[in-house]
Amino acid sequence: MEEALLKKTRNLIASRIGLLVREQDVAMLHRVVAERVRVLNLSGAEQYCQFLETDAGVRHEREELVIPFTTGETYFFRDSGLHALLRDGILPELIEHRKQAHALRIWCAACATGEEAYSLAILLDELLADQLQWNIFILGSDINRHAIEKARRGIYTEWSFRGMSCERRQRYFQRHKNTWVLDESIRSRVTFQTGDLVADVFPDHGAQLYDMDLILCRNAFIYMDHDMVSHIVDKFTETLTDGGILIAGHGELYAHHLGGLHARVFPEAIVYQRVASPIFAQSTAALVKTDVPVKLPVVFLAERKALAAAPVLPQQQVAVEAGQVSEILLVWKLANQGQREMAAKACSEMIARNPLGAEPYYLMALLAQERGDFAQARDLLKKVIYLDHSFIAAYLDLGDLYAREGDSARAVKMRTTARDLLKRLPADQQVKLYGAATVDKVLEYVEHLLSTSTQ
Ligand SMILES: C[S@@+](CC[C@H](N)C(=O)[O-])C[C@H]1O[C@@H](n2cnc3c(N)ncnc32)[C@H](O)[C@@H]1O
Repeated sequence: MEEALLKKTRNLIASRIGLLVREQDVAMLHRVVAERVRVLNLSGAEQYCQFLETDAGVRHEREELVIPFTTGETYFFRDSGLHALLRDGILPELIEHRKQAHALRIWCAACATGEEAYSLAILLDELLADQLQWNIFILGSDINRHAIEKARRGIYTEWSFRGMSCERRQRYFQRHKNTWVLDESIRSRVTFQTGDLVADVFPDHGAQLYDMDLILCRNAFIYMDHDMVSHIVDKFTETLTDGGILIAGHGELYAHHLGGLHARVFPEAIVYQRVASPIFAQSTAALVKTDVPVKLPVVFLAERKALAAAPVLPQQQVAVEAGQVSEILLVWKLANQGQREMAAKACSEMIARNPLGAEPYYLMALLAQERGDFAQARDLLKKVIYLDHSFIAAYLDLGDLYAREGDSARAVKMRTTARDLLKRLPADQQVKLYGAATVDKVLEYVEHLLSTSTQ
């Protein structure tokens, strides 16, 4: 394909199919177009391009083009931090919120071969003792029908388990030769269907795409054109119930206009909640009043165990402010509302005025993590520790970052320091920036981390 035709084809694929063909994928595009010309018996790339200009052509070619340019890479419990957040915060909140109706609707969009949707079914199995009394609908969808067929079979190889504990695997799967077969009890809880996030219209009652309490759409937006992502987010927003939550991959919605969604910042992920929520609304709403107890966003620990989810501000900080909303709380609020650039700017200003305050650096580190800029997050966390040797959350976050990089020696060092600091505090005291979690609970978690990382 000559340069002008290549450019036209890439533009058409972006605008009509929503797919970004990156520079490094151009060689693949040449191959795919040549193959499509052959299969469709066309005269050449030019005619293929004309075909893509028609609605019928776009409909026909969508799946053929998306599949080669996107990977179906996925595995059970991919992103341990996010799954800890789901287990300890988001799912319990949704369960509480929906306990009258005893019903939950969850959509795992672009689920590839189903591991993500089944991970959610497993988490709910672990969380809900009376699950049989609940009406739980979990839907997995993907444009790739081969992936959906595989998802329905529920048979996986070793590679799908690299994020899942052996204990869970033993509990929910049966080994069969080189594969693992998911128990029918979990398999039957997830419905799979093909679907195209770009072309399909939703909400759609006929396709069960309505009133979702939770939508996960992770690692699919990265392949898409910016405007297309915004368009899909709008459709997701309409498909969520009030208070329902959208979770995308790290940084995938950065710089997007989020309309009716309200961003909540956690160290593990930013989640987006449809506004008018009775679940989380109190935390940020409270920040604008000076006469009510102020609440911070919950800060979750990766893989922590049963830490209390209710976010509360450390008492002494409230006292210092003497009923006034402090500047740093307003900055947390900005971050919570998804105004991350403004939050980062406000942090920089606070740092310029008082270079010795640790918390703005900490918040900047969380924002950097959210952007996926782990190197910057690490530098900022080091600064936090330099400024405040007793900043437990910074040691734990830095420990997580080192562990993520495979530097277990440094991870152990950070976690050991956090443990020593915790041991000096009263067991029932709340740990700063860990919501309502008390020292004994966080200590239990850190001991758990240390016991697993030194094995
Ligand atoms: C990397 S996988 C993500 C799997 C899973 N969500 C995860 O994060 O582990 C990306 C998936 O997005 C799917 N996908 C890409 N574009 C899509 C579209 N327009 N509609 C539905 N699925 C799409 C691909 O087929 C692929 O299976």
